[in-house]
Amino acid sequence: MPEPQINPWSSNQSVDVEKLFSEFGIEPIAPAISELPCIPYFMSRGIVVGQRDYRQIASAIRNHTPFHVLTGFMPSGHPHLGHLMVMKEVVWHVQQGGTGYVTIADREAHAVRGISWEKCREYGKEYLACLYALGFEGQTYFQSKNERLKDLAFEAATKVNFSELTAIYGFSPETDLAHAFSVITQVADILYPQVDREPAPTIVPVGIDQDPHIRLTRGVAHKLRMFTVEDRDGYISVRSKNAPEEALDAVKAAFPGAKMYEGHVDIRDVPCSDISVKVRRIERKYGGFGFYTPSSTYHIFMPGLTGGKMSSSIPESIISFYEPEAAVRKKVMSGITGGKMTRDEQKRCGGEPDRCSLFLLNLFHMVTDDAELAEIRRKCVSGEIMCGQCKKETAERVVIFLKDFREKMDAAAEKIEV
Ligand code: TRP
Ligand code: SF4
Repeated sequence: MPEPQINPWSSNQSVDVEKLFSEFGIEPIAPAISELPCIPYFMSRGIVVGQRDYRQIASAIRNHTPFHVLTGFMPSGHPHLGHLMVMKEVVWHVQQGGTGYVTIADREAHAVRGISWEKCREYGKEYLACLYALGFEGQTYFQSKNERLKDLAFEAATKVNFSELTAIYGFSPETDLAHAFSVITQVADILYPQVDREPAPTIVPVGIDQDPHIRLTRGVAHKLRMFTVEDRDGYISVRSKNAPEEALDAVKAAFPGAKMYEGHVDIRDVPCSDISVKVRRIERKYGGFGFYTPSSTYHIFMPGLTGGKMSSSIPESIISFYEPEAAVRKKVMSGITGGKMTRDEQKRCGGEPDRCSLFLLNLFHMVTDDAELAEIRRKCVSGEIMCGQCKKETAERVVIFLKDFREKMDAAAEKIEV
């Protein structure tokens, strides 16, 4: 079996962003955000680089119409700085009017990583404390405890077969069934807000490695629809995919002048968006889901201090929230920089901030002020500052950040009951 091109469970992969755009149909973020009333720093700084269908979210934000935001965390270890980005994206979208959901993927951690249920619970609670510390408001749940989620997963499973799992994830006959279960549970996670509340556009902020799940879910959302609404030349055609006959009759009855044909109803002189809304309502009335195809954004990963990805399996690469101050300073001071071999050379040619794990740490989380960040870049590129000094200043920022964040986490921990 060939390795899938993106493997969500691999911890050491570098993804080629350009290739994702051209091969998987992920689109750049820039054109989709022009409608946003304000652009968050993770978009303007190039951290969030890609999207699918983000326009429907941008327009929901601008027009104050309902939308959901959902993401998930696998509790396979303590949360660390590498997890903060998606959390911030969720919080921001809630502040923009989205209804917030966060799932703790304990089924996935147990099935794929063999983490005990007890550890899943312990780590899961830490993730939730981080989220609340960042100001999250909304619903949170553990996959294993959410019965409606499991029912939805089962329903979703009627639309996925093993050859699709093989094509997307490289599953083989040896792959155990629980792994497939955890995949379909994630599909259900992504659709869950639309079942729990109402059908509405849903934004799922994720790292690029999660795109296979997004692709699968978008397919399932479509397959679970009873109808498709197609904009033809001069008229709208509502086509039944697997709707009961009465539901199609109801569509015809809802639009005076509509013409009924074998398996479809054609409607003239009514805006497509109005028809979509009514058709969704009818679909729900007859036991369907009326799903909107979920949207996603993709952020790049903050590099670990040792180079590659931040991963709990390489302790030196990460900074976790409860690390002692001395250890934090030591890790930052020994982080990989974009500096030159000698002081002389660095003075002459400057450093390379875009290749420096510490600059990126500042860019992702430690320096919120754009002007201040630009100043760090300028000093680096011009050779005005040496890495030693720059690292010290960064370590100071990290220490202060962590102290404040821990206090917020501790305060939030009281809110969490599991
Ligand atoms: N698979 C994700 C991870 O490894 C966790 C996850 C579960 C998730 N359900 C989700 C992410 C739904 C986004 C949306 O981190
Ligand atoms: Fe990185 Fe700072 Fe060194 Fe530039 S000066 S390479 S930003 S540590």
